[in-house]
Amino acid sequence: MADLSSNPNSNNAENHLNHPKARFMDAMDIIQWEGFWFEPGLVQPAMTFRSCFQAQNNDVVLTSNIKTGTTWLKSLCLCILKNPKPDEDLDLLVEDNPHFHVPTIESTIYSTKPHIDLYKAPSPRLLHSHLPYIVLPDSVKNTDCKIVYIARNPKDTLISMWHFFNSILYPNQDPFPLERTVDCFLSGVHQYGPFFDHVLQYWLESRKNPQKILFLKYEELKRDPKGEVKKLAEFLGKPFATEEEIDKVLWRCSLERLKNLKVNKNGSIVYSVPNSLYFRKGVVGDWKNYLTPEMEEKINQMSSIKLEEHGLFL
Ligand code: A3P
Repeated sequence: MADLSSNPNSNNAENHLNHPKARFMDAMDIIQWEGFWFEPGLVQPAMTFRSCFQAQNNDVVLTSNIKTGTTWLKSLCLCILKNPKPDEDLDLLVEDNPHFHVPTIESTIYSTKPHIDLYKAPSPRLLHSHLPYIVLPDSVKNTDCKIVYIARNPKDTLISMWHFFNSILYPNQDPFPLERTVDCFLSGVHQYGPFFDHVLQYWLESRKNPQKILFLKYEELKRDPKGEVKKLAEFLGKPFATEEEIDKVLWRCSLERLKNLKVNKNGSIVYSVPNSLYFRKGVVGDWKNYLTPEMEEKINQMSSIKLEEHGLFL
């Protein structure tokens, strides 16, 4: 079983004595805070983020649950905002993994001491968080900064999550039983869970305030990449001038290309998670290769109650 103690905050679990605790996939301690489950080391940084972060009007905060296309979204926004005129000599994605360029706030910025100085970051600041909407800082909610959320079909998210955590927690071993992972997912007891509440919060907020929160779906990005990326660039205030620019960004951010870049084949950015683990198949409907009809039915029922009732079909 892998050791996650390289997380710089994993030793401060004793600070969380009053939080409900659980163990994900029999190998990972998680604690509950504000109705959601987190690795213990993420909670203090999340609290600091909530109380200290001062958003600026032109910040862009990307948000997502895990395994829903975060890496793709970070890459696309990086190209749109930081490489507006794509040219081969200035390709940040070749220089480093997208998670290096667009840090996940609670697992990097506020988990380091001293904290990375966000105020020196070049404008517009491009940041990311997996945190649920409810714990985002007030300044993110109340300034003109933009939020982009990416959602994904729950069954594909679950399978992606299962592969990811098997690689980290049980490397070179038999996978953790899928049935028990489905149970964790449905009961919401997993990193950044409950998944359904996470998606729903952002969905409802985006409906209330579509100028502020753009709600993207992984499957739509796959189905109509040009249309969705055009929409994303317009939302970010950086519309494309030509079709060629869109094609170039899509090519730069394609799974096949990123997966094969040297920076992503080696090394790790966050804790000791290899960069290569962020790139797997990227196939819509991959869940069909793994879930039994019973598992499918249980997840569909949950989607129907939690999401479809609110007009969200994933
Ligand atoms: P699969 O495990 O289904 O292949 P996250 O970035 O939130 O961790 O999500 C990871 C999922 O997004 C993985 O899905 C991964 O393969 C897929 N992914 C990563 N980069 C991608 C890209 N550039 N285009 C499409 N999918 C990508």
